[in-house]
Amino acid sequence: MMEEELVRLQEEAFDSLSAIKHASEFEPFRVKYLGRKGLITGAMRMLGQVAPEDRPRLGQLANTIKKEVEEKFESRKAQLAVTPISAPQAQQIDLSLPGRSIPFGKLHPVTQTMEEVCSIFEGLGFTVAEGPDVETDFYNFEALNLPQHHPARDMHDTFYIDDGVLLRTHTSPMQIRVMEKENPPLRVIAPGKVYRCDSDITHTPMFQQVEGFLVDRKVSFADLKGVLSVFVAKMFDEQTAIRFRPSFFPFTEPSAEVDIACVICGGDGCRVCKQTGWLEILGAGLIDPEVFKMVNYDPEEYSGFAFGLGIERIAMLKYGINDIRLFYENDLRFLAQF
Ligand code: PHE
Repeated sequence: MMEEELVRLQEEAFDSLSAIKHASEFEPFRVKYLGRKGLITGAMRMLGQVAPEDRPRLGQLANTIKKEVEEKFESRKAQLAVTPISAPQAQQIDLSLPGRSIPFGKLHPVTQTMEEVCSIFEGLGFTVAEGPDVETDFYNFEALNLPQHHPARDMHDTFYIDDGVLLRTHTSPMQIRVMEKENPPLRVIAPGKVYRCDSDITHTPMFQQVEGFLVDRKVSFADLKGVLSVFVAKMFDEQTAIRFRPSFFPFTEPSAEVDIACVICGGDGCRVCKQTGWLEILGAGLIDPEVFKMVNYDPEEYSGFAFGLGIERIAMLKYGINDIRLFYENDLRFLAQF
């Protein structure tokens, strides 16, 4: 009799546990079945009235039942805690709604241009070398045939850090750093940041350059012209005209500045090209024998060319941007256009 009672009680407790849908129903359940005056506890007290020979068996059964109900109680509680939404709530969520989109970042236009320039030269067999932004006077000037007090140093508006230590004003020191360590033939580009104390619509105190140089036997100005013509055709347009204008750099001889036909007016003359029809894109020349002597190359045996181009300037021409400072204001309305 007592046995049936116990089994029935267990079934009843299990059923009502399964029926629980909300955390608030657990405490009433506990009180009803497992509490001090609860049904299971009550049944156990009744054991005192059964025949002594039945007592051990029934006592054991009652204990097992109590333990099982307690276990099921705990596991049902845990189960409900991890079910975050109940069925009626789920029906209010519209699963067809589009998700929140995460805004995509893009490469900065100067970075894009830098990568494009480098990949054109890499396609021509140039390898990339990188060097320090904080440079010594020796690499930035002295070894490039710009001794102390040379008037051409004034063109550079140098940021000095310490005596003989400065922020590089151009990537040309990489010519020395590479030639010092390696022997010809060399075909190298050196991309990187450079610094000059200057700021207006065509200058920022930091800007980026790509230096390029090639050293071998019998390198001529025609080779320089060939390489730069291919570069301009790939970077701008097959049809873009190119011209070399005589210029001066202490580390090249002869030296030239290279112009392309104005990308805005096509050469007719406009405000961007100041009515000349041409836009300057880089400085270049044949490496001066004095520079070769600095790195112990024999100028009788080797010759080479070098060029240095400004990345922001190329980007401005390519995308029709009229103020270089826009690149470094980080206004997303500007940057998102590229
Ligand atoms: N370093 C020069 C500049 O920044 C450019 C240049 C590089 C000119 C190589 C000639 C050869 O103005």
